[in-house]
Amino acid sequence: MESPKFLYLQTFGCQMNVSDSEKIASLLAGVGYQLTEESTAADLIILNTCTVRAKAEEKVYRQLENLRPLKRKKPSLLFGVGGCVAQQEGERLLEKVPYLDLVFGTHNLHRIPQIVLAAEEGRRLSETDFIDNETRLGLFPSDDQPGGVTRFVTVMQGCDNYCSYCIVPYVRGREISRRSADIIAEISQMAANGVKEITLLGQNVNSYGLNDPDQPDFAGLLRMVSDIVGIERIRFTTSHPKDITRPLIDCFAQLPKLCGHIHLPAQAGSSAVLARMNRGYTRQDYLDKVAALRAARPDIAITSDIIVGFPGESEADFAETLSLVEETRYTDIFSFIYSKRPGTAAAEFDGDLPYDLKLERLDRLAEVQKKITREFNKAQVGSVQKVLVERASRRPGQIFGRSSYNQIVNFDGDISLVGSLADVEIIEGYQNSLLGRLVTGH
Ligand code: 5AD
Ligand code: SF4
Repeated sequence: MESPKFLYLQTFGCQMNVSDSEKIASLLAGVGYQLTEESTAADLIILNTCTVRAKAEEKVYRQLENLRPLKRKKPSLLFGVGGCVAQQEGERLLEKVPYLDLVFGTHNLHRIPQIVLAAEEGRRLSETDFIDNETRLGLFPSDDQPGGVTRFVTVMQGCDNYCSYCIVPYVRGREISRRSADIIAEISQMAANGVKEITLLGQNVNSYGLNDPDQPDFAGLLRMVSDIVGIERIRFTTSHPKDITRPLIDCFAQLPKLCGHIHLPAQAGSSAVLARMNRGYTRQDYLDKVAALRAARPDIAITSDIIVGFPGESEADFAETLSLVEETRYTDIFSFIYSKRPGTAAAEFDGDLPYDLKLERLDRLAEVQKKITREFNKAQVGSVQKVLVERASRRPGQIFGRSSYNQIVNFDGDISLVGSLADVEIIEGYQNSLLGRLVTGH
C-alpha cells in the first residue's frame, strides 16, 4: 500500500469557505490525502482564500511567503490556492507566485483531485472557469461526514445583488438555489445521526428559490426543515434586509424551532450612503423591517455588519450609522473599514476618505456597540435560557453552548450533556459571553 500523503488545509474568510474546505478535504481523501494539523508534515498545502477586503487578500500572500521555507526543505511539497483570491486572480497567481503549484476557483472544487494529481506530475494548472447551472446543482457541497451537534447546510450560493463595494458577485458567480428535496434529505440524514441544530447557509438566503419555480421560497424551506423530526433548532445566515418578506417574518412568530436571532447587515445608517452602496433599501425601510421582526418575536436578537468610511461618507452620514446602531440595539456587530475592491462599482467613486478618519470612525462605532452589547449581556442575568450544549469549554469542568440568541454560554456541567438543550440560569454577563448555572429539577 502506498504511504499516506498529508494535506494541510488553511481556511480564510466566511462560513461558505469553511464548508468548501470540508468538501476539498473529502475529495482529496479520495486520492490518498489525510488531513494534518502540522504544516511541517504536509505533502500538500492548500489555502482556501477570501478577497472580500484587501487585507484578507494580502494575508494570503503573506501566508504563502511564511510557508515558503517548508518547500525549500522539502522540494516535493505542493502549494495550492483555492477560493475567492484564486477566482479573482486565476492564472495571474501562478505568475505572481512562482513557487505555487496549483490554483482552483470557487466553481472548480470538483476538479481538485485531477488538478492535484497533475501537480504531482509537475504540471501547473489553474482552473477558474465558471460552470453551467446544471453541473453546479449536482456539485453543491453536501455533507460527507454527518454528525456533531450543530451543522451548516448550504442552500444557495452566489449573489446577484451587486452592492457597489462588494466583490462577492464576481468571485462567487450568479445565485443558484439547491433543490429543496436534496436539502431536506441531507438534513434528515443528519438528524438521524444525532444533529440537533441546523444553520442554513448562503450568501443571500432570503432569495432562496426565487430563480426556480420548482422550489419553495425561503420561508417555505424553513417550514419544511422545521418539520424534520430530531432537528430542534434552526438558524440561517446571511439575510439581505431588502428580501425580508412577510412570510419570513411570520416564521419567527410561528416556528418554535427557529432561533431568536437574525443577522441582518445594515452596512450603513444613512439613506444617501445606502443608495450609493446599491443596497435597495433606505434607513426607514430597514428600521421598519426591524420593527416587524420585533413584532413577530419581541425578544429577537439582531446582529449586523457595518462598513465605515465608504467613499463620500460625511460626518453627518456617519452620525446616522451611530444612531441606527443605537436605535436597533444590536446584540453585536461586525464592523469593517471600507476597502476598495478591483472591478466593483465603488472602486470608481470619488470621495475616498483618509485612513486615519476611517480608523477613528471604526473606533467610535466599536465604543457605542460595546456598551450596548455589555448592557444586553448584563440584562440576561437572572433569566433561564435553553442552551444547546456543543462541547467542553476551555476551562475544566465547564461546558459550552449557545442560547437561542446565539450568545455563548459557559457553565459547570458534565460532558454527557453535549447534544442536549439544557436549562441554564445566567449568572454573569461579560462582554463576549455569559456565565450560567445548570438548572436542575425541570
Ligand atoms: N470593504 C469593507 N467591507 C466589506 N464587506 C464586503 N465588501 C467590503 C468592502 N469592500 C463587508 C460587508 C459584508 C461583510 C461580509 O463584509 O459588511 O456584509
Ligand atoms: Fe456582497 Fe451585497 Fe451580495 Fe452581500 S448582498 S454578498 S454584500 S453583493
